[in-house]
Amino acid sequence: MNRKDFLRYSGIGAAFSLISGSSVFISSCGKNNMMMNMDSMSGGPVNIIEGTFDMPLQFPQVSGGMVNLTAQNTKHSVFKNKYSQVFGYQNNSILGPTIKVNSGTVVNAELRNNLSEPTNIHWHGLIVPAAMDGHPDDVIQQGSSFNYNFMVNQRAGMYWYHPHADGYTSKHTFKGLAGIFIVNDKEEQALNLPTGNFEIPIVIQDKRVFPDYSLDYSPQMMEIMTGYLGQYIIVNGSYAPNHEVNRSSYRVRILNGSNARIYNIALNNGDSFSVIGSDGGLLTSSQTVSSLIVGPGERADLIINFDAYTLGQDIFLISKTFSAGSAQGKQEFRIMKFSVTKNDMDTFSMPASLSTINIIPESTSTKTRTFTVSDMNMGSGMNMNGGMNSMKGFHKINDKSYQSDRIDETVKSGATEIWIFDNSAGQEPHPMHIHGIQFQVLDRIGGRNSLIVTENGWKDTVLLMPGEKVRTIMKFSENKGKFVLHCHNLEHEDSGMMLQFEVV
Ligand code: C2O
Ligand code: CU
Ligand code: CU
Repeated sequence: MNRKDFLRYSGIGAAFSLISGSSVFISSCGKNNMMMNMDSMSGGPVNIIEGTFDMPLQFPQVSGGMVNLTAQNTKHSVFKNKYSQVFGYQNNSILGPTIKVNSGTVVNAELRNNLSEPTNIHWHGLIVPAAMDGHPDDVIQQGSSFNYNFMVNQRAGMYWYHPHADGYTSKHTFKGLAGIFIVNDKEEQALNLPTGNFEIPIVIQDKRVFPDYSLDYSPQMMEIMTGYLGQYIIVNGSYAPNHEVNRSSYRVRILNGSNARIYNIALNNGDSFSVIGSDGGLLTSSQTVSSLIVGPGERADLIINFDAYTLGQDIFLISKTFSAGSAQGKQEFRIMKFSVTKNDMDTFSMPASLSTINIIPESTSTKTRTFTVSDMNMGSGMNMNGGMNSMKGFHKINDKSYQSDRIDETVKSGATEIWIFDNSAGQEPHPMHIHGIQFQVLDRIGGRNSLIVTENGWKDTVLLMPGEKVRTIMKFSENKGKFVLHCHNLEHEDSGMMLQFEVV
């Protein structure tokens, strides 16, 4: 099939012609399957437009474990003096409240769906019963409510929550439905890490807007392949914010809540910072780095020390360039500003040891499963007019795209297994995420060929750059039922890059 036939066949000519100067290479590889070579598409990154960094950084309201969330259309000041139409879990707020609980707390979260389409909530990184996990098929219809009720019984860490209804995750999350979920415990408290005003949880996201500043979620076919990237970087819901800091150590807890964008976190002056934690809480000890890759869904717990700076100095959190296939990492941009405005005696000193992580020995694994991820292996019958659901089959795992009535893997509760994610032949990055578990990363083969510091801790999401294969090990909980694993590039997820496993 030649290019012209292909375009006519699938009705996507318009999407391709949006890519300036592209020469799309399409070769036929079997019956109705086509592979496209990403590198030949010169779509490139969506260029970031930097702001003036004069909006104060906002923090969502903090809540305990008893919380009412109403998914709704609302307004929020994402840009200075402008109101954007967004989705929120509260009136006039783009993000949900930051839920803070101690390990051992019972959570009661009442979700009311005031949107005009199904939604639900998934508690990303939390280990909760299957019926409370926001499985893509357990949706709450418009006008209905559901009570999420579970006990938090795991390590301190920064987790998060967001919608997970099949086919709607990407749109709902992009339009603003997400929140931070912080778990504290005694072990962490005893470390005296910077807290109160010295603890800064931030959600980094990239957005696109219509001329009236409403959030614009309208992915074209190419953007379902690469993931939907925005030009405006927002932090805790504000574009180009500034935060005033003392000459002190701060605990900056980062969540990459973007649909698809990867950040290579650094400081604009090149100074190093300490990494103390990852998705599932603290590392065994802090590690110093000068840049850190954080993929969609991942968290990074940092200590940034502003002691050495002078009053009046501005330090920017930036994303440096990196190599990740064709669509990302080409541009360095600023994310937010820290203005050093006050002197302060810094009493914090980094504990030599932060936590204990018991390494799961490979010898305890009773089964190895391999999940091969594939790019843009398009099945037949695809069309652009039916929204996300018609894009199923764009991205696959083990040559399958998500099907709610099919169980792909059956796992025994309490079993220890090795799960291998293989992107060796892929040309796009894929942040792979498993529900209902925290895992350890054993190794990375190909590409970067080594682990990054956050991968020495507990993880629920691991980034595979093109050419990489990552081995993970995990012990399943006693929570029986159906869970999913998927790519946390939310366009990939909603276009089928998700499988179902059942714990029995
Ligand atoms: Cu944060 Cu299944 O996702
Ligand atoms: Cu999750
Ligand atoms: Cu992916």
